[in-house]
Amino acid sequence: MIIIDNLNDMQKELKQHKQKSIGYVPTMGFLHEGHLSLIKESVKENDLTVLSIFVNPLQFGPNEDFETYPRDPKHDETLAEKYGVDIIFMPTTEVMYPKKLTFSIEVTQKADILCGKSRPGHFDGVVTVLLKLFNIIQPSNAYFGMKDAQQLAIVHAFVEEFNLPVNIKGLATVREPSGLAKSSRNVYLSEDEKDSAVSLIESLTYGAELIKSNKYNVNEILEQVKSKFSEKNNTSFEYLELLSYPDLEKVTKIKSTVILAIAVKYKQARLIDNLIIDKNGNILTEFN
Ligand code: PAF
Repeated sequence: MIIIDNLNDMQKELKQHKQKSIGYVPTMGFLHEGHLSLIKESVKENDLTVLSIFVNPLQFGPNEDFETYPRDPKHDETLAEKYGVDIIFMPTTEVMYPKKLTFSIEVTQKADILCGKSRPGHFDGVVTVLLKLFNIIQPSNAYFGMKDAQQLAIVHAFVEEFNLPVNIKGLATVREPSGLAKSSRNVYLSEDEKDSAVSLIESLTYGAELIKSNKYNVNEILEQVKSKFSEKNNTSFEYLELLSYPDLEKVTKIKSTVILAIAVKYKQARLIDNLIIDKNGNILTEFN
């Protein structure tokens, strides 16, 4: 495994692998099992796997946790090597953004709902950095977790609308034995919060069962999911939504695939989780 922190070396290295399929796992580091499942799939499906580790300032709002976002590059390197990554691309902010940008990319749909509502500009920052990273790495396949389902929907649309030559693969959320979705930000949770946070997935799963039963309309489902969540948890919702997926539009009836998504705010962490559910109530475990 080699670690590269600049564009020249990256270009030189990739020139040697021109005929190979490149699998790419974009991350902000502090790797957990969710990232490792993406790496595993990339290693399985491609000749070469590139992992990027870059905490992208452009996708953090002024009052968000850019400075304190958890970082542990040495630990990440050990894990990446163990799981078969060939190249880690770990640029500095100066390498990625050497000067003030002349252009800006604005996500004009799917961005002002769910997480985008409280994080204006977040997805603009995500697609900007991804455009740069896709151009630098030129991957055949890029792997994303379904936990960030709104990001996945936006990246799918971005790649399609701008004809970017990369396949986007969305893989199942990896969970703790309790059901809590793995996230780099879980380190901010107290033990009590971790226990109560299990009600995120419990209430979403209950929602999937209600969809499967085919007896309730969208409002009734949301009401019941809310009370299920509140049985074990007095944290308030940032959102609880049932939308079409990947279009992320309001629905009154469930006629095609939907996302049931939740965000709650704990003392030091904001947790999100979701299930993507087909019209028969089956939970999808990949979205390509
Ligand atoms: O999901 C993430 O970790 C980030 O949003 C990504 C895709 C690496 C872009 O910075």
